Amino acid sequence: MLTSIKTNNLTSEGQKLGMMYFRVAIILFGAQLLMGLIAAIQFLAPGFLFELFDFSVARMVHINALVVWMLYAMIGSTYMMLTEETGHEGVGIALGKLGFWVLTAAVTVVVLVYILVQVGDGTEASLWLIHEGREYIEAPRWADIGIVVVVLIFYYNVFMTYMAGEKTGIMTVMVANLLALAGLYLAGMVYTDNISMDQFWWWWVIHLWVEATWEVFVGTLAAFALIRLIGAKREIVEMWLWIEVLMLFGSGILGMGHHYFWIGTPEYWWEIGALFSALEPVPLIAMFVHVLYDWGKEQGAAEARGEAKGVITNGPAMAWIVTNAFGNFLGAGIWGFFHTLPQVNIYTHGTQFTAAHGHLAFFGAYATILIGMMYYGVQKAYGVERMKSTFKSKMGIFLVTFGVLGMTIALTIAGYEQVMIERGEMGATWNAFFTAQQLPWYIQAQLWRAIMGVVTFIGFIYLVWDLLTIGKASQEA
Ligand code: HEM
Ligand code: HEM
Ligand SMILES: [Fe+2]
Repeated sequence: MLTSIKTNNLTSEGQKLGMMYFRVAIILFGAQLLMGLIAAIQFLAPGFLFELFDFSVARMVHINALVVWMLYAMIGSTYMMLTEETGHEGVGIALGKLGFWVLTAAVTVVVLVYILVQVGDGTEASLWLIHEGREYIEAPRWADIGIVVVVLIFYYNVFMTYMAGEKTGIMTVMVANLLALAGLYLAGMVYTDNISMDQFWWWWVIHLWVEATWEVFVGTLAAFALIRLIGAKREIVEMWLWIEVLMLFGSGILGMGHHYFWIGTPEYWWEIGALFSALEPVPLIAMFVHVLYDWGKEQGAAEARGEAKGVITNGPAMAWIVTNAFGNFLGAGIWGFFHTLPQVNIYTHGTQFTAAHGHLAFFGAYATILIGMMYYGVQKAYGVERMKSTFKSKMGIFLVTFGVLGMTIALTIAGYEQVMIERGEMGATWNAFFTAQQLPWYIQAQLWRAIMGVVTFIGFIYLVWDLLTIGKASQEA
């Protein structure tokens, strides 16, 4: 992919910019995994890098890199789609490129500060210069403002291109949803010294991103990909998309109540959170059925026409998108539902159970489809009509997915042990917290998580290697 900047067959400036975003995304993904490995080792050997690079720092960089690489890949995917959906070259892309460089320079500085400075005093200056202490969105205030400016440029590109070009249903959803997605970021920028209030608004970003706007974003990507990769009918795909949007927002917005059980918010959130969040898996089931059904239908129709080749024009992209259908349903739908009722959550809240869900959901719902879009980008960049999976593509998807599933199972076991010992038997005291972490089930689970983390990382190396080489290889073939 790095070389594809030179061998670029892309004629659209918007798509070239999309590839630039993909490149940074994959580098940050690698950084995320390395930080995860450090944090995982620290679970087993707490003295590892003590006072040099503490667990809190490794964890912070791990999850912030996660969010940033996904946002990069989302912007990249949007630029990839934009030209094809609107049939328009893109409005103001030169400005968009400037925005890309400003953002990337800012991200580099922020990451260097995280790694080298790490923490500051509890003062305003730390908020402005180091980080804000808000999980997942820790960018310091100066970077926050820069992010807003760059996002405004990005949105200008998208909106003006949409206005100038063809207005498909997919693009209409995309344009409206991106406004909500970007606007929500503002809710995480206001400083308040009341922790309940801070958490209240913070969830507006985190929950309303991953369980509403990001999911709708995935809906638009899947719709686009089904049309491009297997030739699904636009009318059907777009009708599904509208239904998905309705169901996702219908359950996801008030589903936010599942984070308002214990933070000092009024008790009526128990009922609201329980009811609406319990409905959240429904659209995820719908999305799952939709992808598999369309695939089966198009394949069947092609066979009936006697076509030998099959309908898939990009093997690895399709494989990742099917993995997305499963992963979204399992990680968000099933693992989310497990602990979403207050009667259960009172025991599982903040245990490794949450971490198990966090891993499978972020991976299954987002990493997968964004990687799929990267493969789509590579196919376009090399101008190949059909891109088949290589050995490396298969190793990449298999090892990464197997690794994350393995980590999830290990963490679920650790969480189960915590719930039983720390919460159930010992009554959630300080002492109980530490006792539960010293018992064999917990330690073994953490060991398996570290092992599966290494498997994931090896898979990642195959993935990058494949992205760098598959374009050229399929051109030659
Ligand atoms: C792709 C979508 C999703 C992603 C990426 C995701 C991710 C996460 C993450 C990372 C956390 C931990 C947040 C923290 O650090 O405190 C979390 C918490 C939670 N999620 Fe999800 N989630 C998704 C969908 C869902 C769904 C659909 C449900 C319910 C059906 C759900 C239920 C919960 C609950 C109840 C918690 C709170 C856990 C606790 O009390 O410790 N999630 N989610
Ligand atoms: C090399 C593979 C990985 C390793 C070793 C690893 C390890 C870790 C560790 C040790 C933590 C801190 C958990 C805690 O505070 O108890 C963590 C948190 C987290 N990781 Fe990973 N991780 C890896 C890959 C991933 C991937 C691929 C994703 C998603 C795409 C991911 C998403 C998250 C999230 C969302 C959290 C916060 C979970 C929460 O607090 O609920 N990680 N990871
Ligand atoms: Fe949530």
